[in-house]
Amino acid sequence: MAVIVFESNAGHTENYGRMLGEILNVPVFSHKHAKNVLGKGEAVFFMGWLCADTVKGYKKAQKTFDLCGVCAVGMTSPELVDIDQLKRKNEINGKPFFYLQGGLELDKLSGIYKKMMSVATSSLEKGAAKGTLSPKDVQMAALLKAGGSCVQKENLQSIVEWWNQR
Ligand SMILES: Cc1cc2nc3c(=O)[nH]c(=O)nc-3n(C[C@H](O)[C@H](O)[C@H](O)COP(=O)(O)O)c2cc1C
Repeated sequence: MAVIVFESNAGHTENYGRMLGEILNVPVFSHKHAKNVLGKGEAVFFMGWLCADTVKGYKKAQKTFDLCGVCAVGMTSPELVDIDQLKRKNEINGKPFFYLQGGLELDKLSGIYKKMMSVATSSLEKGAAKGTLSPKDVQMAALLKAGGSCVQKENLQSIVEWWNQR
C-alpha cells in the first residue's frame, strides 16, 4: 500500500495531503520526515507545491521512492493549467499526474518566496496597467490581490476515484 508524502511551504499542500490521507485511511508524511522513516523504494503518492512551474521536492522524491502518482498544488485555477507542459518541465513521465488549486496567502510566506511573489505582483500590476496580461496572469493578479485558500475536500475527488480503482 502506498503512503502519502507532501512538500509544502505555506500549508495548502499539507492540508490536501492530510485530508487525502484521512479519506483514504493511509499514513501521511512530510517529505522531510519521510526521508527518515520510509525506506528507499517505498511506494509513495507524492504531492508538491508549485514554484515557478516546478513541483517542489519531486526530483528528490522520485530518486528515493517508488512514486505511484504525483500531484502538483498551485494557485492557478485548474482550467488554466497546461498539464502537459507541467509534466514536460518536471520530467514526469509514465505516472498518473494530478493538479489541485491551493491558494495564495501572502502572510504565510517568508524570505525568498515572499520576495519572489512581490516581484511577480509588481510585474503583473504593470502588465495589467498596459492590458497585456494573458488569461492565466489576469487570474493570478486577482488571486494575488485578494489572496486566500481554495483548498476543499471536493477537489480531491478525482484522486480518490483513481486511488480506489488502482
Ligand atoms: C515563489 C512562488 C512561486 C509560485 N509559482 C507558481 C506557479 O508557477 N504556478 C502556480 O500555479 N502557482 C505558483 N505559486 C503558488 C503556490 O504554488 C501556491 O500558493 C500553493 O498553494 C503553495 O502551496 P503550499 O501552501 O503547500 O506551499 C507560487 C508561489 C510562490 C510563493
